[in-house]
Amino acid sequence: MKIIDAVHVFFDYMRKDENDKIEEISPALSDMNLEIEKGSFVCVLGHNGSGKSTFAKMVNGLLLPREGSVYVADMDTADDELLIKIRETAGMVFQNPDNQIIGNIVEEDVAFGPENIGVPTAEIRDRVDEALEAVNMTKYKDRSPGKLSGGQKQRVAIAGVMAMKPECIILDEPTAMLDPKGRKDVIRTVRELNKRDGITIVLITHYMEEAVDADRVVVMDGGRVVMDGTPREIFSRVEELKALRLDVPQITELAYELRKAGMPVPCGILRKEELEEVIMELLFEGDKGSCDSTDTDGTEPDLGTDGTEPDLGTDRPEQDLDTDREDKSEGACQ
Ligand SMILES: Nc1ncnc2c1ncn2[C@@H]1O[C@H](COP(=O)(O)OP(=O)(O)OP(=O)(O)O)[C@@H](O)[C@H]1O
Ligand SMILES: [Mg+2]
Repeated sequence: MKIIDAVHVFFDYMRKDENDKIEEISPALSDMNLEIEKGSFVCVLGHNGSGKSTFAKMVNGLLLPREGSVYVADMDTADDELLIKIRETAGMVFQNPDNQIIGNIVEEDVAFGPENIGVPTAEIRDRVDEALEAVNMTKYKDRSPGKLSGGQKQRVAIAGVMAMKPECIILDEPTAMLDPKGRKDVIRTVRELNKRDGITIVLITHYMEEAVDADRVVVMDGGRVVMDGTPREIFSRVEELKALRLDVPQITELAYELRKAGMPVPCGILRKEELEEVIMELLFEGDKGSCDSTDTDGTEPDLGTDGTEPDLGTDRPEQDLDTDREDKSEGACQ
């Protein structure tokens, strides 16, 4: 079931002079199409200006398409009467936690959203407790938000959205202003909300590492979706990503460089443990080769049996890599 559906969406920002005459038009979305399944964890990547934030604002009804439509749980964002329901269904978390926190005390802040939409007082209490528990901030409920770290403030902002009982949360670079620990805590929280509570997560980020655990990665460029697949599929396409001025996770880059240097490392390695395993296998094979050489029976020697340093991957012909490059439509790496 779809929770978000952007259909042939076009949007331009317009700058007008004092007489309301259009001075400049900046196209931001250009035939953008994207369906997001309920309950999924989707990461949206894209270079600066590719249209990510514009898309996020469309989902929340803050901006409306010039052409095309955006639906949230089948509700058209262009329908004014549905706007409150749409914003309850799809909550937004922005980059700067300081701009999102308004209460003087954490629990007051989290209560603000439900109070605003007229949730009965007794229910607000339960929602605030639940939301703070969900982001692991219960013990800070009586604190002043000003005293919290960036990561904690961002978790309070997420609790504020949670208290609205959304089906979906769109987070636009929620970790951009946080230190590594804050980033980790926020990403862990978001992942838990997805896995444990079934909340659909749309995470916009410039940190490639944050995309590794998503169910799906969507890459935007020039106001439309240009790549769409699992993290492994997307991060196997290193050259294409680089052409879009995007990086890959550090470990994927390392694996890619090793592969380019001739080592038979599979593409789309996402985690340190995976690369470790591959390298251990290669080393073990090399090792086994030299051991076997003592009792070989004249068969083809394994890696390193000629007494020289085992040259891992020398059995992989150059042209293999080229073939793979041409084969990217099949999901092979470049
Ligand atoms: N308020 C605005 N007025 C005019 N043009 C804008 C405005 N906001 C965005 N744009 C332009 O619209 C395009 C898309 O911008 P958007 O902010 O959606 O990109 P983004 O992918 O979120 O970028 P970033 O990674 O820098 O946050 C860009 O060309 C940008 O310059
Ligand atoms: Mg943005």
